[in-house]
Amino acid sequence: MLKVKMSKSEVLENSIKSWNPGKTRQWQEDGIDFVMGERRGYYVFDMHGKELMNLHLNGGTFNLGHRNPEIIETLKDAMDEFDIGNHHFPSIGRAMLAESLDRSTPKSVRYSIFAAGGSEAIDAAIKCARYATKRKKVVSIQNGYHGHSGLAVSLGHVRYSGPFLSQGEPGLFIQVPFNDLDSMEKALSYEDVACVVIETVPATYGFPMPEEGYLMGVKQLCEKYGSLYVADEVQTGLMRSGKLWGIEHYDVEPDILVTAKGLSGGIYPIAATVVSEKAGGWMNEDGLAHISTFGGAELGCIVATKVLEISQRPEVVKNVEYVSRYLRTGLEQIKQRYPDYFVGIRQLGVIMGLEFREKDAAKDVMRHLYNNGVWAIYSMLDTKVLQFKPGLLLDKAYCDELLERCEKSIKEASQQPAFIN
Ligand SMILES: Cc1ncc(COP(=O)(O)O)c(C=O)c1O
Repeated sequence: MLKVKMSKSEVLENSIKSWNPGKTRQWQEDGIDFVMGERRGYYVFDMHGKELMNLHLNGGTFNLGHRNPEIIETLKDAMDEFDIGNHHFPSIGRAMLAESLDRSTPKSVRYSIFAAGGSEAIDAAIKCARYATKRKKVVSIQNGYHGHSGLAVSLGHVRYSGPFLSQGEPGLFIQVPFNDLDSMEKALSYEDVACVVIETVPATYGFPMPEEGYLMGVKQLCEKYGSLYVADEVQTGLMRSGKLWGIEHYDVEPDILVTAKGLSGGIYPIAATVVSEKAGGWMNEDGLAHISTFGGAELGCIVATKVLEISQRPEVVKNVEYVSRYLRTGLEQIKQRYPDYFVGIRQLGVIMGLEFREKDAAKDVMRHLYNNGVWAIYSMLDTKVLQFKPGLLLDKAYCDELLERCEKSIKEASQQPAFIN
């Protein structure tokens, strides 16, 4: 059995020396002295043993918990027979997952293009839309985030594209305010936009909820002006909303749906761009036009097929409803006790954002939560909102403990902002 021996201080030293000095130092300066050791279920432990309830879940990567036993068993069994495979040929794993995604996504989408991560899958979506429409421009929302790779990073906030000079040529990547159909129409009306890439509930922006009719309005504008609708379901998919895909709540049939993170079961990286007949047209004309060696690794496909199966079990759907309702009730009570500080709860299933009155307050709450044994991160693009991402399989005892730790942390943060232990 592999047992790597390294002390926490050696990990930190090596990380500063050879991994990412800025990131390593930043967390230390922010009072988050964490190096991941043991992990199980919805708990993670620092190498020195500090226990944290995981309310970050890497954006849903650990929807089914850390080291979910069924996922591990599936991967172990698959390893007796398979490996990554050869991406040029059809295979059992890819055929199985593609069929499963075809069956479980909206009727408008059909073919799956596999990738190793969400950004690559977003890039593939943009490529498909450009091929299908013969247009180059892409529209996304202000304060959006769709990943860090070549095309995906250009869609997001300048915080991400700027450092790497990746904003694209002027006018190529257009950003419009969320929940503003007039701006969206203006951007699309020149009939030169390949697609709109939009998260159903934008995570990094702090989960602002789409207003009634907004997403359907965007879809109708796409149809009117000949652009494709790309639903980024990287954080909102896989039952987090209470339906398999967040977009199902809004009755939008996307031209392209992107899923990643949780599809991996937290065990084997895999992502998928599921495209309509039109968006996938190139695959009938020139199937070798897009290639990814690790995209659709057979082991990943087998794991992802299991993830889809588990996530759709009636008992899991019921549990998501239960956890959503139970945590909402508990959080509402806490909110009533701190009405001047804790001012809003944004929610669609277990997709949740806790809103505090002041800018940067979510950073304070994050630090107090950390000190009290909960890991949840503030929204990078709206620092008054804490991203609060419970898992799909939580039980009542976990929720009770979580609410207790949350109340303590919110109380402390409201009395003692900018506290670092
Ligand atoms: C909404 C959304 N889209 C795309 C991505 C990119 O996924 P990845 O980090 O796997 O490349 C992320 C990652 O956080 C995301 O939150």
